[in-house]
Amino acid sequence: MSQLKMTIDRTNEISKINKEIYGHFAEHLGRCIYGGIYVGENSPIPNINGYRKDVVEALKALKVPVLRWPGGCFADTYHWMDGIGKPEERRKIVNTNWGGVTEDNSFGTHEFLDFCELIGCDAYVSLNLGSGTVREAAEWVEYMTSSNVSPMTDLRKKNGREEPWKVKYIGIGNESWGCGGGMSPDYYMDLYKQFQQFIGHGGKIACGPNAADYNWTDTLMRRSYGYFQMKGLSLHYYTIPTGDWGKKGSSVDFSKDEYYSTLANTWYMEELLKRHGATMDKYDIDKKVGLVVDEWGIWTDVIDGTNPGFLYQQNSMRDAIIAAINLDLFNEHSDRVKMANIAQMVNVLQAVVLTEGERMVKTPTYHVFDMYKDHMESTLVYSHIENKQLLENKYLPAVSQSVSVDESGKLHLTISNASLEEDFDIDCVLPRSGFKSATARILTAPYTTCNTFDNPEAVEPKAFDGVTLDGESLKFTLPKCSVLAIELC
Ligand code: AHR
Repeated sequence: MSQLKMTIDRTNEISKINKEIYGHFAEHLGRCIYGGIYVGENSPIPNINGYRKDVVEALKALKVPVLRWPGGCFADTYHWMDGIGKPEERRKIVNTNWGGVTEDNSFGTHEFLDFCELIGCDAYVSLNLGSGTVREAAEWVEYMTSSNVSPMTDLRKKNGREEPWKVKYIGIGNESWGCGGGMSPDYYMDLYKQFQQFIGHGGKIACGPNAADYNWTDTLMRRSYGYFQMKGLSLHYYTIPTGDWGKKGSSVDFSKDEYYSTLANTWYMEELLKRHGATMDKYDIDKKVGLVVDEWGIWTDVIDGTNPGFLYQQNSMRDAIIAAINLDLFNEHSDRVKMANIAQMVNVLQAVVLTEGERMVKTPTYHVFDMYKDHMESTLVYSHIENKQLLENKYLPAVSQSVSVDESGKLHLTISNASLEEDFDIDCVLPRSGFKSATARILTAPYTTCNTFDNPEAVEPKAFDGVTLDGESLKFTLPKCSVLAIELC
């Protein structure tokens, strides 16, 4: 067992960790919305106005801060008027992106925004730039948010909602370089400017780059220099275990080597945050425009026998480590990263909950979000660890960590150990700290362990009493393949 030396300086405050970094994404894709979030009022599955009760309770406990909807690629095919009015009269369409299935539009604007109110989160609505019109987009925003007298607010009232909803963020297109229209950055920027002109909203998020497309970021920032009409610029990056989109790798059956290469691929997020951040700094040194990582997570092959267009995968202890690394990176870069949205909330990709009929499981990723939630709205403080590399030919630090102090003065340390071979003795010094007590929770299991419907608690956080706090010294053993959350008071 090696010893790793660590320093935490609570007096060195770095940036506020926006709660939106712990955001989610829900698309009309597979069983995310239908079956996962929404089953309809007449379902035998216990529900509140059609929303699954078990899922609502699980999400409320996580304190989900913001939810992005309706896509994803689906957003650029979505015509919002199809999803309002009496459900039985709504247009049925084909979900051309995801499995070619019938979309009956029974979950539309009202259902989404009421759901956000029910679980207590802010709404982030992605407008259709790819196949919609400026008028359609502007009218949707008016329908949702205006309290004036207008044809759209009249229509909203006729459909049963008197007061406008609060919609904090509006996305202008999704992956406009790909499924959102195959655009160049200059062409997108022309359209963005046109749309933003007619959309009266202060929380506009421009469609940002695909992974390492720094030219996209540069073009958008340069062309809006001096007059930033955007609150944020998005970034999408998925962890593909093999690095090969054609054969991504399994979510349940993978070797140690693949475990490590997956985590190395996840750490690539650090380079993306640094380089896109530096590109944005060229034009926006005051960091007025947030980097919004509104799709991230592991993307594997689907579970055998499921619809390939539904992107249903399992979630293991490997996913927990992936979530910990990404959340620590977002915290570390919270001077620029203002929001992040895991893809996706339920039953799709790196989901926090999975459902099957009446049953629901909380995934290992859910538990990491739960263990990290105290970072929301806290202040990131300086921390450093003498890390160890796990691979010879690829960057893969064994440990990731972040430390914040909340409003009441409590310190929150989250730390993960990706090694499958070695526990680490962490020897941490906290100068000028004055904390008196420590409590901790740990998440650990063999690396392929999943929570299944028959064994839903295989990976669960447990109380951890191995932390010793003695004046300015904090010591603990960090087990292999684990995530630990420590609170100091
Ligand atoms: O999250 C699944 C898909 O991944 C989204 O629809 C799209 O934006 C991205 O390519």
